[in-house]
Amino acid sequence: MATFKIAIDGPAGAGKSTIAKLAAKELGIVYVDTGAMYRAIGLAAIRKGIAPDKDITAVEAMLPEINVEIAHSETGQKVFLNGEDVSTEIRLPEVSVAASDVSRIPAVRTKLLELQRGLAQKTDVIMDGRDIGTVVLPDAQLKIFLTASVEDRAMRRFEELVAKGVECDFDEVKRDMQYRDKNDSEREIAPLKPAEDSVYVDTTGNSLEESVKIIMDIINERRKSL
Ligand code: DC
Repeated sequence: MATFKIAIDGPAGAGKSTIAKLAAKELGIVYVDTGAMYRAIGLAAIRKGIAPDKDITAVEAMLPEINVEIAHSETGQKVFLNGEDVSTEIRLPEVSVAASDVSRIPAVRTKLLELQRGLAQKTDVIMDGRDIGTVVLPDAQLKIFLTASVEDRAMRRFEELVAKGVECDFDEVKRDMQYRDKNDSEREIAPLKPAEDSVYVDTTGNSLEESVKIIMDIINERRKSL
């Protein structure tokens, strides 16, 4: 039997990962956060002192030395960079920007595409990112494009960071988000855009509970029709 695959794409801060994590738990399927993989490579570049928006050759040169692995635990997905658990460090704001920069580089995308498709091969998954419905899992039975206004998304991200004790400034979070929106949507390969057969959901003004309900209703409806 074919595995059931759900693709959730959308800009940063739209609530993709929070909603996908909850949905995965409810459905008893695996959640894969592909952004975390780009973040691991962005972190590797920062640690090597590479400016990923400028020095593409240096990023490409470090790729063979980099091993990104994903493990699923009770508390969610863990990401390992050459065996080191970097799940917490990759959430820092500077890593978000570096992740967006490395994600424009074709060799980076090729490396991660293999890992992402491999994870979805044998098991039911809900996978989130920017190009899951368009490139990674074009055969997903359900594709959702989740978005919200930039103010809402920046505020959610700001509150998340504050809750984690990360020192930050709202305007800077919003600026980073606008930079990533532009970078992710305008790149040449696998840009952020809704798949033609995706369901478009705008969560502006919604509470998390409202958004989760909307997504769960869409998922349950689709599962019934399969
Ligand atoms: O989902 P996130 O915010 O953790 O992703 C970090 C960056 O990684 C994002 O700005 C663009 C990139 N990314 C991507 O290009 N393709 C994906 N499928 C997931 C993330």
